[in-house]
Amino acid sequence: MPLSATSDRDRHSQDPQPALPKATFNFRCIGCGSVISNAAQDFRCSRCDNLLEITDPSWKLLSPRAAPLKTLWRERRSSNAALDLSGVWRFRELLPMPESERHVVSLREGNTPLYELPRCSRLTGVLRLYAKHQGMNPTGSFKDTGMTVASSFARQAGHRWVACASTGNTSASMAAYAARAGMRSLVLVPEGKVSWSKLSQALDYGALTCQLRTDFDGCLRLLQELVRRAPVYQLNSINPFRLEGQKTLAFELLEQLDWEPPDHIIVPGGNLGNSSAIGKALLEMRDVELISHLPKLSVIQAEGANALVRTLREAEGKQLIRVQAETRATAIRIGNPASWEKAVRVIQATGGACEEVSEVEIAQAKAEIGAEGIGCEPASAVTLAGLKRFVRSGFVKPGESVVLVLTGNLLKDPDFTMEFHRGDLFPVAPGDAGDRLNPLRHPPVVLDASLEAVIQALERAEKSGPAHPNV
Ligand code: F0G
Repeated sequence: MPLSATSDRDRHSQDPQPALPKATFNFRCIGCGSVISNAAQDFRCSRCDNLLEITDPSWKLLSPRAAPLKTLWRERRSSNAALDLSGVWRFRELLPMPESERHVVSLREGNTPLYELPRCSRLTGVLRLYAKHQGMNPTGSFKDTGMTVASSFARQAGHRWVACASTGNTSASMAAYAARAGMRSLVLVPEGKVSWSKLSQALDYGALTCQLRTDFDGCLRLLQELVRRAPVYQLNSINPFRLEGQKTLAFELLEQLDWEPPDHIIVPGGNLGNSSAIGKALLEMRDVELISHLPKLSVIQAEGANALVRTLREAEGKQLIRVQAETRATAIRIGNPASWEKAVRVIQATGGACEEVSEVEIAQAKAEIGAEGIGCEPASAVTLAGLKRFVRSGFVKPGESVVLVLTGNLLKDPDFTMEFHRGDLFPVAPGDAGDRLNPLRHPPVVLDASLEAVIQALERAEKSGPAHPNV
């Protein structure tokens, strides 16, 4: 198959889109600090093989002008200009910019809601508790905020093929943005460990979807070899443009909180790109004086996929302890996280922590977020489960404000939700799990199609008390 670097972007080349200010960003190695203007296909430092991040000297110059930026960003919310309609490009002063607007691939990502969580607040005793719901993005996960930036640079460079290894959400997002940009996309996913919901998105958007007989870590390893051999552009979070887009979650969150930083931000951890991106944004916002102090950024993992937890506990964050990952929260079923060093740095720089939670805690927390009328996918629910542990240990105090980052939409993993409500998720429920989970279950009932049967069902439900009895 010929894989050439000429792309369908040529059909956009006549667009009368304005040129943007000349890009001034560079790539900096997070290990040896080398600064380069062009990155190789694997986005690794040619000297020490560590990951690259994006820096831009122009961001530092924003410092005395930071306050007017807040007004400018807010004003853009009432503009109908294409870049302003995106909750990512609205913050373009702190992002790497393509050469021209015609390269920008956008599905109007970002601008996601910040919800109060009154029930979970009563459950945890944390009075100021919020959820930043990234599952409300166009393809249903936070990946879209990074994908708009990285796919724009892929289009600018004229790539014909983009590729990723994925537990599902990255592939759905990449396939959508590639389709919008007229690029082809290659998806590598672990066979049998990706929800149909996510896989079906990639199929509809037209990706070449390969289900590999391995886990996510095996897929990512193979992709790293592939990008050295074939002209495909990788859109995993090793690609630092992804993390730049994902920074905007933090910009937008602070804007929604009128620039008053919360005490804690809690995020799920898988390959650790998202926590790294949010941490980078917090540090940059502090450096340009958009915020006066840093929230503590904490990462929660599933017990069965706890590489970062062990790395911090057993190796003080100095070397990665890999694990053989297993969890029903398949989005974070990752044992060899690529961005672990970036994540360790931002957790330490912000005074955050790292915690693990059990499968039962995840299922319970997911149902409790559902009971708010919001819902999320299992990987996102680790944040509430982790918060409960933090409250018990005293790391989070009831008087502090907390933001949970919900990374994926409830509709992303219907199998998990159905199994939970039918009571099939834990065939042998450990310990007192049944007592904790049963009141949260709402299994469907099959009835004869008669008025009487429905009225009886209503009466039974009324007798058994409120839908969510514990709060
Ligand atoms: N939550 C969801 C819903 C995810 O899909 C992922 C990662 C994470 C949390 C963890 O974020 O990897 O940046 O630490 N999903 C990737 C994927 C790996 O392929 O969709 P992370």
